[in-house]
Amino acid sequence: MLWLDGKKCANHIQCQLQKKVQTLKTNGIVPLLKVFFIGDDAASQIYVRNKTNIADKIGVATETILFSSKITEEQLVTEIEQANHDSKVHGILVQLPLPEHINTQHIVNMIDPKKDVDGFHPLNVGRVVLEESGMYPCTPAGIMSLLSFYNCDLAGKHVVIVGRSQIVGRPMVQLCLQANATVTICHSRTEHLSRYTSQADILIVAVGKAEFITEEMVKPGVIVIDVGMNRTNDGLRGDVHSNVSNKASAMTPVPGGVGPMTIMMLMKQTIESAERMSQ
Ligand code: GUN
Repeated sequence: MLWLDGKKCANHIQCQLQKKVQTLKTNGIVPLLKVFFIGDDAASQIYVRNKTNIADKIGVATETILFSSKITEEQLVTEIEQANHDSKVHGILVQLPLPEHINTQHIVNMIDPKKDVDGFHPLNVGRVVLEESGMYPCTPAGIMSLLSFYNCDLAGKHVVIVGRSQIVGRPMVQLCLQANATVTICHSRTEHLSRYTSQADILIVAVGKAEFITEEMVKPGVIVIDVGMNRTNDGLRGDVHSNVSNKASAMTPVPGGVGPMTIMMLMKQTIESAERMSQ
């Protein structure tokens, strides 16, 4: 069984990105990612720290602005508009989830689509469906990049996606279709889930439930992409049980699989935004 090593693939991309940053810097441009962090969610703190640490290594500047969870939607919109108009800012990231009194989609809609490095703005969501270039959601883009790094061609393959979130499952369908896969999407209301998962050549799981997929649910030789990051009493666990490795031909580890790829796509889109804005 082959481990699909996200760290190794991300490191490979990091070297290419560092060169791009060098070129930008010789032209007097430092790529800048502005991060809006609202409240004090512990998991979000770790995610943001991971993103800013990698940015440091690559030479992407970050500015993290912390807001109390009591901030109003209007105040947050004003801050985002300022960043939209600031020509030194190339990427804007609003860490989710937001406090309940704030309408997340309203906030995302306010981000300038050209700076929407998460790829969550409706314009960018639409561009993915239309196969136009734009900002792509980082986790699905990272998964495609990892599969390509390991020369995994999706054409004609049956990809089964478990999870229909706006961040992962739905855009994942579009990217797999672009790669000429046959795609099935399953979710919390799917009946007889195993019927579908056991047919997958490539199984992508993003449900947020520790060890949800077990070896009885997959066919021998399956390639498994585990997007889960679940903190349990026994430590960090993916959505896929380790016993699936008995049957899989290849699988992503947790941690060190999809996570580093997501962050590297965020860096790539921030740097490419800086390149476009400098042209
Ligand atoms: N919260 C969990 N994942 C993400 C992500 O990819 N982007 C943002 N902005 N927030 C998140």
